[in-house]
Amino acid sequence: MSMRGPALLVLLLTISGGALAADPSSPNAVERGEYLFNAAGCLGCHTDEKGGGKPLAGGRPLATPFGTFYPPNITPDPDHGIGRWSDADFIRALREGKGREGEPLYPAFPYTSYTRMTDRDLSDLKAYLFTREAVPTPNRPHELSPPFSWRFTLAGWQWLYLTEVGPRPDDPSKPPDWNRGRYLVEAVAHCGECHTPRTTLGGLDRDRYLAGNPKGPDGDKVPNITPHPKVGIGSWSPGDIALLLEIGLLPDGDVAGGAMAEVVRNSTSKLTAEDRAAIVAYLKSIPPLE
Ligand code: HEC
Ligand code: HEC
Repeated sequence: MSMRGPALLVLLLTISGGALAADPSSPNAVERGEYLFNAAGCLGCHTDEKGGGKPLAGGRPLATPFGTFYPPNITPDPDHGIGRWSDADFIRALREGKGREGEPLYPAFPYTSYTRMTDRDLSDLKAYLFTREAVPTPNRPHELSPPFSWRFTLAGWQWLYLTEVGPRPDDPSKPPDWNRGRYLVEAVAHCGECHTPRTTLGGLDRDRYLAGNPKGPDGDKVPNITPHPKVGIGSWSPGDIALLLEIGLLPDGDVAGGAMAEVVRNSTSKLTAEDRAAIVAYLKSIPPLE
């Protein structure tokens, strides 16, 4: 299922009118899991595409202000991957940011968003991962300097920033597409991990939800996507936003670059049109922030 390059993506979309990798309403756990896997963008971080690594066998270097992270092997290999993990181990990692031995994990793994995914979605996601090729590639240690290299300090970080754990109940006063959109934006597609600014300790600044991040991945500036008419995307039509999510095209005719190009390629282009519309409905409803 690997697509190489935006040109090929555009070609495929033209031919197929938006090829879907999987069906979110399928009764089959693996098919549902594949859809969630794409929506959640697990592939990009856990694959060292530039270094010629096999899918999910260990990630590309993630440079952050705290040092460089090397996301681990999450193939079903029993020794180097997560082949021996139970469903409960897996759910705990994504929901509570804990490794198999219960050790706290670094928030470079965006579990502060994945925490809101439902049990069913997490176990279907694992069912899909366990159908992938097992690759015996050893993990590469992160390159961090103290105090960030001391894993135990993360317990304090989690106490400060992982304050809301687990899925949120739907808001009954809102229509189903809004609730679906909130779930996709907040939990699965974790838009806030890049579009929300961070505190000095690297936690999400929730008062500035989706208001843009001056220092995003690779040091890039990440735009404000609240409906503010001047500094946000308030002047974009719902169709404009949906088109960006589908093919990466901006209303001015340019294409989204950097980290967003990858989000579109691996994730939002593979959603159903209904799910993209749900994201738009939710984004249009959040408070406009400057
Ligand atoms: C933004 C990059 C990023 C994304 C996206 C991401 N991860 Fe990770 N993941 C990491 C990093 C970095 C670690 C290592 C954390 C640590 O060492 O404390 C990690 C750790 C893990 C672990 C723990 C593995 C172990 O051996 O302890 C699992 C399981 C995992 N990720 C699964 C996933 C799944 C499933 C997805 C998609 C839903 C995903 N990740 C998306 C960066 C990412
Ligand atoms: C891995 C980081 C990352 C994630 C996750 C992410 N984005 Fe982005 N996004 C960016 C970056 C970086 C840009 C700026 C791209 C550019 O400058 O070409 C951007 C641009 C955008 C824009 C264009 C805004 C403008 O004013 O030009 C929209 C809309 C957008 N993202 C929506 C989303 C939505 C919705 C999600 C979740 C489904 C999401 N993004 C997830 C990094 C991210």
